[in-house]
Amino acid sequence: MIGIALPGPADFEAWRAEARRLLAAEVPPERVAWHLRGESAGLFADEAAPAPSPRRDGITVPRAFPELAEVAIRHRDPERFALLYRILWRIAGGEAGLMQVAVDPDVLRAHAMAKAVRRDAHKMHAFVRFRELAGEDGPRFVAWFEPEHHILEAEAGFFIRRFAGMRWSILTPEASAHWDGEELRIGPGGRRTDAPAEDAKEDLWRAYFASIFNPARLKPAAMRAEMPVRYWRNLPEARDIPRLMAEAPRRVAEMVARGATPPAPRRQRVLAADVEAPMPADLFTQDPTAALAALRAEVLADRGPLAEHATQAVFGEGPIGAALLFVGEQPGDEEDIAGRPFVGPAGRMFNRALEEAGIPRAEAYVTNAVKHFKFKPTGRRRLHQSPDAGDIAHYRPFLRREIEIVGPRLVVSLGATALRALTGKPLAITKVRGEVVKSEDGLPVFPTVHPSYLLRLPDPESKAREYARFLGDLKSAWREVQ
Ligand code: URA
Repeated sequence: MIGIALPGPADFEAWRAEARRLLAAEVPPERVAWHLRGESAGLFADEAAPAPSPRRDGITVPRAFPELAEVAIRHRDPERFALLYRILWRIAGGEAGLMQVAVDPDVLRAHAMAKAVRRDAHKMHAFVRFRELAGEDGPRFVAWFEPEHHILEAEAGFFIRRFAGMRWSILTPEASAHWDGEELRIGPGGRRTDAPAEDAKEDLWRAYFASIFNPARLKPAAMRAEMPVRYWRNLPEARDIPRLMAEAPRRVAEMVARGATPPAPRRQRVLAADVEAPMPADLFTQDPTAALAALRAEVLADRGPLAEHATQAVFGEGPIGAALLFVGEQPGDEEDIAGRPFVGPAGRMFNRALEEAGIPRAEAYVTNAVKHFKFKPTGRRRLHQSPDAGDIAHYRPFLRREIEIVGPRLVVSLGATALRALTGKPLAITKVRGEVVKSEDGLPVFPTVHPSYLLRLPDPESKAREYARFLGDLKSAWREVQ
């Protein structure tokens, strides 16, 4: 056996260099014992790597392999190095299309690893909580986090982008990342007690969380899936969840009783939240979850011209740190009643297209340019009315802050209103479709049509053709962020 020592648990470049060397020397996977420097290679790793053979040098592999390997290598499974080398060996050995064989056990396993790593990264983006430490040279914000996989170094960039102007440290059990405003340093692991304990701001935040907690939307299983219990102990607000859950049925009954008074639309009203006094977002600027919750409260409390007739404001939903953020036009009739974006006919079309494009909706953030339903009452129906430039301008500051907090890599605008709200210009979708344009804040925006445009097309042929184009756009956007 040949023992190969790697310098770090997720060092893709080092793994790649060793794998190339082994491949060039025609060393089969079963003769390699991968391990980390400082760890034992095992009893049988007693051979030195042979010199590369010129015959196998310079092998090319499809791009899909390094793209997958770079993420999967962050998984904590000790078998990951060997698995990836086995896949590489098989591709180089003549299975050129192996990456397309989704049911191949090796490929399947590598994809499952990459998926778990991405999920861990999403959790890290959402659940890292910085606490302020006073230092001689100014404040430093320190967070404690326990990732499941080796993601700290790879995800440090996300926090640099978001908190470029702050000096911060993220401590994990196996490594730490330190940003001083210019340079990132990776250091040794820490202990939970190395991060500062709770401070007064947390009491404020917990009280606020209790006030925005929406008992009507309580889904304990989904909550646990999105916010695994293992993270709760680091979240100040999580301590209150059991009590809030226990109180939920009573609060729902009270809310329904309140909602039964006019104006009552066609269906029973479900109020999105029970918010009285919104908290200023800047109190928690270093904490995206809190900042988003505070912004949501502001939007729900908005009393702009469209708020008067709508049932409630509809805020965006999805994970902080989502790579893709979709912006629609405005809530429709069903969204207005449910308090959630894209749940009506356009939403069902959108969901179907997302699914066919391989984009899990739960991994994307979905919102609207305009947060209230604009309509004309006509008999029993409420007829959708397009928002005008004034409506778009009214909600634009909310949208910009929402996007800034979520921090997507790519914004997808659905339809002309969204494109206008993002770019500030009345661009024609037909002119810019397929290109990436810049938002007013310099973010990349991928313009496509609105799903309701597809619903309105009269004949099945153009419907099918335009749907296929829409699907193609979604797939391109998803590829952009992989
Ligand atoms: N259309 C939109 O633009 N947004 C929704 O949420 C629903 C329909």
